Amino acid sequence: MPTMGAFHDGHLSLMRTARSECDVVLVSLFVNPTQFGPDEDYHRYPRDESEDASLASDIAIDFLFAPSNEEMYPPGFACVIDPGPAGQGLCGAHRPGHFTGVATVVARLLGIVAPDVTYFGLKDFQQVAVVRRVVADLAIPVEIRALSTVREPDGLAMSSRNRLLEPEARERAAALFAGLRGAVERYAEGERSPARLTAVVRSIVGEAGLDLEYVDVRDAETLGSYTPERSAVLAIAARVDGTRLIDNVVLVPSGNVVPGRVSRPWAGGTA
Ligand code: PAF
Repeated sequence: MPTMGAFHDGHLSLMRTARSECDVVLVSLFVNPTQFGPDEDYHRYPRDESEDASLASDIAIDFLFAPSNEEMYPPGFACVIDPGPAGQGLCGAHRPGHFTGVATVVARLLGIVAPDVTYFGLKDFQQVAVVRRVVADLAIPVEIRALSTVREPDGLAMSSRNRLLEPEARERAAALFAGLRGAVERYAEGERSPARLTAVVRSIVGEAGLDLEYVDVRDAETLGSYTPERSAVLAIAARVDGTRLIDNVVLVPSGNVVPGRVSRPWAGGTA
């Protein structure tokens, strides 16, 4: 399970699932510099390795692999993986090079560890699409398990960056999911216009004074253009006092509930 540490309940829930499904569980902890832009929060990204080690050991994780930059990118390291269209648009359009960094580090981690299964959270919906692309195209023999977003009681998706928020900003951050939930409600009533669905999100996020980076409706499988007949992902990125947060929900045309998944759309990141 690749992570950048600063574990929260989203990580811990993935770890517990991995623990229950696998004989041996290895969690990697590496704040990957190549997926941060020059003006992004690499240096500010939360780090607490000893607390992470204790949380991982509470779940009886077998190995915590915390390589140095030099181990991950030794002298002579030269290959980079461009994941193509999956990494363009949405976050990719606002974070040039981000998904190349993610694709490269994940491929290298999978190469080093050679797991049978790898675990990701669906809060990073586009990241999962990118990793699926890399694994398919490079024929990496691994099963990808992508699990629902874990949320705070007010709906805010768990994220390591939440701990960068001051209490007042933390409260306003709930508007990200409130916006998505507003659009889910309209979708459930039959609204299918991406412009009107995203307008609902814009209005709720705007009222809370968040700085919206994007809100978009894309095909849930390809991340290409949205067609009302197919499942879609409604994805958002916004800054709350300078901290960039992302979230998404999946909109399913038949009944607005993913079969076999949660019945309350906001309980698990899918709708
Ligand atoms: O989701 C993350 O924490 C990172 O993007 C990942 C997958 C560990 C790659 O650095």
